[in-house]
Amino acid sequence: MKILIMNGSPHRGNTWRLTQAVKEILAGWDASIEFSEIHLADLALPFCTGCSNCFRKGHRHCPHHEKVQVIMDLIEANDAVIFSVSCFQGHVTGILKNLTDHLAFLIHRPRYFHKKALIISTAGGVSAASTTRALAATLAGWGFNKSYQLPIIAFSWNTYKPEQKDLQRAEKVARRFYQDLKAQRLYAPSTGVLIPFNLFQALCITAGDDPMFPTEDHHFWPKYYGMQYAPGIPLPLHKRLLGMMIYSIGKRLAGKYIISYKK
Ligand SMILES: Cc1cc2nc3c(=O)[nH]c(=O)nc-3n(C[C@H](O)[C@H](O)[C@H](O)COP(=O)(O)O)c2cc1C
Repeated sequence: MKILIMNGSPHRGNTWRLTQAVKEILAGWDASIEFSEIHLADLALPFCTGCSNCFRKGHRHCPHHEKVQVIMDLIEANDAVIFSVSCFQGHVTGILKNLTDHLAFLIHRPRYFHKKALIISTAGGVSAASTTRALAATLAGWGFNKSYQLPIIAFSWNTYKPEQKDLQRAEKVARRFYQDLKAQRLYAPSTGVLIPFNLFQALCITAGDDPMFPTEDHHFWPKYYGMQYAPGIPLPLHKRLLGMMIYSIGKRLAGKYIISYKK
């Protein structure tokens, strides 16, 4: 089992110490886990310029593609990602938000359907949970199968040491994460995930590409034609029917809205 630990904080502080404790818990259960680490601050990814090349031409046309590809390759090469991110202003840090901006095209062209995430955040007093929730919502849009969340109030700026009660909570969340990973358990997508999957597919396939302003989305979706979600992911009948319904709404909308990004 391979787990990537991504430090989305600009330093190694409270959240990193908690993340290290979680890593030790996991390693204690299973010595065969292969951990790797990336510290986003070291990657020095410039800000997303908003050129929208990733949406229109494909992510390889991003001016920062080489750096973004490092992260995409790491996610691809691992079974799961542990995101370690401080709560800044009730949200993820700027450097992690900058990364998610660079990967926003994944909402249009999702992947990582078999990957799991564990999101760890600490806050001084409030909003650790809104931080982990925000990132979990982003990852669901990218296709991640499930995110487990560990939001902890540290009551500290930089001297937090994980307390017994926090470690107990960490162990509980880590256990669910580990057991699901080990069993290769896969969960059905939520309605919020089914909507864009079926809508984008219908809009792209039905309307065809805009000859003047082609988008990468049109090359991406045909491989999922006739599928309500990614192959291999469980989809109960009611969700399959819901997917079909969303698809047929998308088909009707397609005549009215051709997705192109005129630039
Ligand atoms: C820029 C900045 C913004 C912060 N925003 C919040 C906040 O919205 N809510 C809160 O409770 N604590 C906030 N804090 C405190 C940190 O979330 C808290 O100290 C956290 O444990 C720091 O984790 P770290 O050491 O891993 O960076 C903020 C700290 C900084 C530096």
